[in-house]
Amino acid sequence: MHRLTDGYTPGHEDRTALLSVRIARELQLDAQRIMQINMAAQVHDIGKADIPLKLLNKPGRLTDAEFTIIKTHVQVGYDILKHIDFPFPLAEFVYCHHEYLDGSGYPRGIKADQIPLESRILTVADIVESMSEDRPYRRSLGMPAALAEIRRQSGQRLDPVVVDACVRAVENDPV
Ligand SMILES: [Fe+2]
Ligand SMILES: [Fe+2]
Repeated sequence: MHRLTDGYTPGHEDRTALLSVRIARELQLDAQRIMQINMAAQVHDIGKADIPLKLLNKPGRLTDAEFTIIKTHVQVGYDILKHIDFPFPLAEFVYCHHEYLDGSGYPRGIKADQIPLESRILTVADIVESMSEDRPYRRSLGMPAALAEIRRQSGQRLDPVVVDACVRAVENDPV
């Protein structure tokens, strides 16, 4: 497992992986697929290794220009991972982790079924993890707020089946 030095990305990836696995189990995916989602989640933000620490740890709001730089972590991650010969499309799963069902995501703006289910799970877990933990720029917003947010985006940006599975997983077994 890689270790970024920004102080929060490694823990964020671990927790996103745990939640992704819980969602995948709730969806009754098979063991191999769950293992693949786990691996992709563990490295999904690897491209942040290329982003200046100053920016990753910046307290307060990012400017548009700074956000544009942060967004490059997806392409960088894909470019690193695509050279590794995994027996499943790990690089593609990572590439799609900021895409949304309605095409409003990045970097490609792909839609709905063009986004692998593995990535749709990763996206929901990523949002919930990010909102429910502290960040350099803000304190945790709390799990109830995180679940309310994914419900709000369900069916537009986020896959409703995945959102429901995430809510069930967290409510049945709060961590
Ligand atoms: Fe990301
Ligand atoms: Fe992330």
